[in-house]
Amino acid sequence: MSHDLLSGKKGIIFGALDEKSIAWKIASKAHEEGARFTLSNTPVALRFGELDKLAEKCGSEIILADATSVADLTTVFEQSIKFLGGKIDFVLHSVAMSMNVRKHRDYDDLDYDYFQKTIDISALSFHKMLQVAKKLDAINNWGSVLALTYIAAQRTLVGYNDMADAKALLESITRSFGYIYGREKQVRINTISQSPTRTTAGSGIKGMDGLMDFTDRMSPLGNATADECADFSIVLFSDLSRKITMQNIYHDGGFSSMAMSMRAMAQYNKCLDEEKIL
Ligand SMILES: NC(=O)c1ccc[n+]([C@@H]2O[C@H](COP(=O)([O-])OP(=O)(O)OC[C@H]3O[C@@H](n4cnc5c(N)ncnc54)[C@H](O)[C@@H]3O)[C@@H](O)[C@H]2O)c1
Repeated sequence: MSHDLLSGKKGIIFGALDEKSIAWKIASKAHEEGARFTLSNTPVALRFGELDKLAEKCGSEIILADATSVADLTTVFEQSIKFLGGKIDFVLHSVAMSMNVRKHRDYDDLDYDYFQKTIDISALSFHKMLQVAKKLDAINNWGSVLALTYIAAQRTLVGYNDMADAKALLESITRSFGYIYGREKQVRINTISQSPTRTTAGSGIKGMDGLMDFTDRMSPLGNATADECADFSIVLFSDLSRKITMQNIYHDGGFSSMAMSMRAMAQYNKCLDEEKIL
C-alpha cells in the first residue's frame, strides 16, 4: 500500500543488480511511493543482471558508472539532474565487492591489491559520491543519503573478511561527512545495518545458510527481509525522518542487542547432546 511518502522527490539508486538485490527492492518501493530516480551500476552488472527490466518498470534512465571513478560519478549526478529536471532529494549507496571473499582468501592471508579494491568499491566510493554531489551542489537542502552496512563493522564475524574493515570505514565516512553536509546544507547521511539477506553479494559470505539460521534464532523479531529494509529506507528518504543524521541504524530484528536467545540455546544444546552420544 502506497502512502505517497516520496511524492515529487528525485533520487539516484546505485547497486540494483537483479530482483534479489536490496537496491532493487528499495527502487521498487520508491517508485510505488511516488519518487522518480535514475539507476546506476557497472556495465558488467547491466550485462549479467536485469537492470533494464527495473528501469522499464520504474520509468528510470540507467547511467552506467564504476562507483570508484570520480569522473563517472560526476556524470551520474549531472545526467540525473538533467533527466529528472532538478536537484536530487535522495541517494542510495548499495555497492559492495571483495575479491578476497570471492577468491576465498582468509583474513590472515589477504591479497593487498584486492584489499585496496574492497575498500575503494565498498567504502571510498561513498565518500566520492558525497564529495562529487557536494561540489556540484547536486542535492537539495534536507536531502537524504543512505548506505547499507553490516554488523561485522562492530563485531567480528567468521568469513566476512576484509568487508568488515570496509564497512567500518563506510560508517565512519557517514559520520564525518554527515557533520559537514548537515552543517552546510542540511543534507542527512545515515547507514542501515541490515540482517543477512540472500542476494548475489550476500551469497559470497562463508556459511550464509548457517549464519541466517543463527541470526534468525537470535533475533526476537527474526531476520529483517530485503522488502522490510526497503520499507525502512523509504522512511529515511522521506520528510518523516528530517532530524536523523550521522547514524548507523540496526535493522535486524533485535539481533544486535542479543547475546543468547531461547531458540538459539535450544539448537546449541542439541549439538551438545549429539556430542555426548558420540
Ligand atoms: N546481503 C546481505 O546479507 C547484506 C547485509 C547487510 C548489508 N548488505 C549490503 O547491501 C548492499 C547491497 O548488496 P546486496 O546484498 O543487495 O547484493 P547485490 O550483489 O545485489 O548488490 C551489490 C551491488 O554492488 C555493485 N557493484 C560492485 N562493484 C561496483 C562498482 N565498482 N561500481 C558500482 N557498483 C558496483 C554490483 O554490481 C551490485 O549491483 C551492499 O553494500 C552490501 O554489503 C548486504
